[in-house]
Amino acid sequence: MSAKSYNRGYVILIATIAAFGGLLFGFDTGVISGALLLIKNDPALIINNLDQLPERTQEWIVSITVLGAAVGALGSGRITDILGRKKVLIITAFIFAIGSVGLGIAGSVAELIIWRLIIGIAIGVASYTVPLYISELSPTHVRGALVSINQLAITVGIFASYLVDLGFANTHEGWRWMFVVGLIPSLVLFVGMFFLPDSPRWLMTYKGEEKARKVLDKVGESNKEEVINQIKNNIKAESKERGSLSILKAKWVRPALIIGIGIMLFQQFTGINTVIYYAPTIFEMAGFGADSANAVYDAILPSLPIGAVNVLFTIVSIYLVDRWGRKPLLYLGLAGMVVALVALGVGFTFQDVIGAGSLKWISFTSMIIYTPFFAISLGPIAWLLISEVFPTKIRGLGMSLASMVNWLCNFLIANTFLTLGRVTTGEMPNPAGEGMLVNPGGAFFIYAAVGILGIIFVYSYIPETKGHSLEKIEEHFLAGKHPKKL
Ligand code: BGC
Repeated sequence: MSAKSYNRGYVILIATIAAFGGLLFGFDTGVISGALLLIKNDPALIINNLDQLPERTQEWIVSITVLGAAVGALGSGRITDILGRKKVLIITAFIFAIGSVGLGIAGSVAELIIWRLIIGIAIGVASYTVPLYISELSPTHVRGALVSINQLAITVGIFASYLVDLGFANTHEGWRWMFVVGLIPSLVLFVGMFFLPDSPRWLMTYKGEEKARKVLDKVGESNKEEVINQIKNNIKAESKERGSLSILKAKWVRPALIIGIGIMLFQQFTGINTVIYYAPTIFEMAGFGADSANAVYDAILPSLPIGAVNVLFTIVSIYLVDRWGRKPLLYLGLAGMVVALVALGVGFTFQDVIGAGSLKWISFTSMIIYTPFFAISLGPIAWLLISEVFPTKIRGLGMSLASMVNWLCNFLIANTFLTLGRVTTGEMPNPAGEGMLVNPGGAFFIYAAVGILGIIFVYSYIPETKGHSLEKIEEHFLAGKHPKKL
């Protein structure tokens, strides 16, 4: 077999089935955007004679999942080592499945919140385990593209959730069905994973070399002996440091930590998930669906093109990232996002001046511009960078830490968007849930300012990893050189 040949069909099948974990990550985070519009008005869930669920309750229903994901991401490193990647993904699929049904039959806000938390833990575990599993099973020269299938699956999951939301927007208690649809990809992941092998790296460490060799033969790894030796070396290096968190204090680890945590801060604090989770809410605030018999449908409909451009431009990014490099895409993406965010801020802040009709279209156009700029840059590249910059010895620990930071920042954004809009425009939070119209203009200005800081961060600290082997990147950091000089 030549150096570049491998069992293509089988490897793509493995990545595709595992990426259903990414699809569920996208689906279960995105589905809430439309479901929320029905949940907040469902008389079966509202207590104390309010018209709607209070904003803080809404924010909790959206964001508790993300908090669960932070916990899941943090614990993943250990459980994927103990049980193996395959078993963890099977268990995760099972949790996704029962969670989807649990949400569908939830009888109160408390039950909803508990099931959203459980699903969140599964999402956090999947967000760490799927890229890890795919990367460990991929032949070296196609690893980047195969790992990116996961981000593509996330965006497909989000888009699918918008379609499902739309499909059930006019159904009685439609939000229940929106959640239950998550059962389908859960079952695909659950059944599919039974037929896939565990990763050679894990098998070698815990089940012996023979089993690992068999899997490497099956995927057609042409550099089998080299891979086996590499795994052996890494295992040796890691076992010395296993369990010691003090390694994080080492000087050579610091740049990778700053890059990994920094890029996740910027990915989240530029506000992507206000768009992904609250798009229909923002459209509703901007006047879509006002005075319409199909108000919910009309507010969800404009989210569809957002979901679609997110998928499309993730594909563009996968194509460009090894050609243009990471940094040019990050600059371009951040610049475009900042412009769109400023437009959103201006639109909402000066809505009295520009008028309701214009606000509708400014909000729609800005969000349609914002999303592809995110999708070519911070979306895939943040996850890609954290799989590249951590030296082998701390890759697992570093990746799970960076994922956890991603989810915690996501939580802060999702949990504060509605009230942040109110505070920055001087209105007081309204726990009673009356007068729900919020002006999110101030929030968008804050995200834009973070975007500008992001450009400075990319310029001054992010290395261009394009075309460098992981070993070369690792050497650079171990030699104590500045990341930018790579
Ligand atoms: C982010 C998610 C986001 C998604 C949108 C991912 O890279 O981590 O927070 O919802 O992209 O496509």
